[in-house]
Amino acid sequence: MDLKAPEGKLGVLIPGLGAVSTTFIAGVNAIIKGQTAPIGSLTQMGTIRLGKRTENRIPKIKDFIPLADLKDLVFGAWDIFEDDAYRAATKAQVLTPQDLEQARSTLEAVKPMKAVFDQNYVKNLDGPHKKSAANKMMLAEMLMDDIKAFRKTNQTSREVMVWCASTEVYIEAAEVHSTLEKLEHGMLNNDPLIAPSMIYAYAALKSGVPFFNGAPNLTVDIPALIELANQTGLPIAGKDFKTGQTLIKTILAPGLKSRMLGVEGWFSTNILGNRDGEVLDDPSSFKTKEVSKKGALDYIFQPDMYPELYKDLYHKVRINYYPPRGDAKEGWDNIDIFGWMGYKMQIKVDFLCRDSILAAPIVLDLVLFADLALRHNMKGIQEWLSFYFKSPMVAPELYPEHDIFIQLTKLKNTLRWMAGEELITHLGNEYYDDYE
Ligand SMILES: NC(=O)c1ccc[n+]([C@@H]2O[C@H](COP(=O)([O-])OP(=O)(O)OC[C@H]3O[C@@H](n4cnc5c(N)ncnc54)[C@H](O)[C@@H]3O)[C@@H](O)[C@H]2O)c1
Repeated sequence: MDLKAPEGKLGVLIPGLGAVSTTFIAGVNAIIKGQTAPIGSLTQMGTIRLGKRTENRIPKIKDFIPLADLKDLVFGAWDIFEDDAYRAATKAQVLTPQDLEQARSTLEAVKPMKAVFDQNYVKNLDGPHKKSAANKMMLAEMLMDDIKAFRKTNQTSREVMVWCASTEVYIEAAEVHSTLEKLEHGMLNNDPLIAPSMIYAYAALKSGVPFFNGAPNLTVDIPALIELANQTGLPIAGKDFKTGQTLIKTILAPGLKSRMLGVEGWFSTNILGNRDGEVLDDPSSFKTKEVSKKGALDYIFQPDMYPELYKDLYHKVRINYYPPRGDAKEGWDNIDIFGWMGYKMQIKVDFLCRDSILAAPIVLDLVLFADLALRHNMKGIQEWLSFYFKSPMVAPELYPEHDIFIQLTKLKNTLRWMAGEELITHLGNEYYDDYE
């Protein structure tokens, strides 16, 4: 693969100007100005080993692979509230007033476009800044016009879209999602199984823009939109940024399994008080999140292959809306494990985390990797980016890989493969040949 350096500006189109997206934009601004290091971002701080360990070739990922420069990012967004990113960030209360002041002009410049929104899909939320049209196809066309206007105003050479809007109600893939033709027909007929996020994804893919999904909604994870991505040669990925509790879960669980320790129970509970928490207080949005959060352990522990260790695992996930905490979430995990001769042990984790602080660098990495994939014609599902998602999209015949260490190896090997470097297997017996 011929890796070319990007040219021109990269448009970052974001449905949802809330806690995550405004924290992301403010952070990028602070990094550009040298006020902070890009902590949490693999593309900016991570390194990649090339060749043998004795070669000492360990560049930073961003020096090895041609990624867009942060100075070339231009932001656009949609929201159901008219607040610009500065006001939205002030309300989200993730960052201190001092940090917000430093990013003020950048944030104030991001004024949201009218959203495609329907309260039937996010029960605990409504706002005035919305598009209206006779059918869902017309709404998609209005979004496509927004993208064209954004491109013209900002003179971008390419764009990516990352969904940072609220979690929608739980929808299962159905007939209307099965082919592009059926989806388009459904959009014309206002089929209720077509959620607003699907309309954004359709508009992006029709406009030559990759679509990555940071929420657990089905959205682009349906055959119709996978078909459209393959047809238009565009990358897609999702779902649900892997932050907080699930991040810890996919760090701990592979470790327990690697030592063949049994797990009979994993109880996870959270309190959070931001708008995301309020949306998730509605059972139908919570169901979408619950399905996304619960998948990881089943795939990591493979109870069918290890019935003595994991067959009876009782896994429970709760999220409770608790306003006093705002964006500073507390996630507790109680893990009941057992070891040699069946003796029981317990692990307790109490993670006092900041959701949007964990999510923002993921948005940055996904923006840069979506653009990398776009420039190198990597179409369809980008499974190598599973590393960033709670519920990774994969080809229909595959199970998703949740183990974060396998995910990282996969990501780095994909970068090596793109650059024509040898893949690293960690076999390493060549270092010992001389001892024979
Ligand atoms: N913060 C994390 O750690 C994390 C992790 C994984 C996933 N997520 C997901 O990311 C999303 C954003 O999280 P957040 O904390 O920023 O939430 P938030 O509530 O602060 O922001 C979401 C914004 O989206 C807007 N919105 C809702 N529906 C919209 C639509 N159809 N079009 C345009 N705008 C719309 C809302 O008005 C709100 O401003 C949520 O779906 C959340 O579940 C967050």
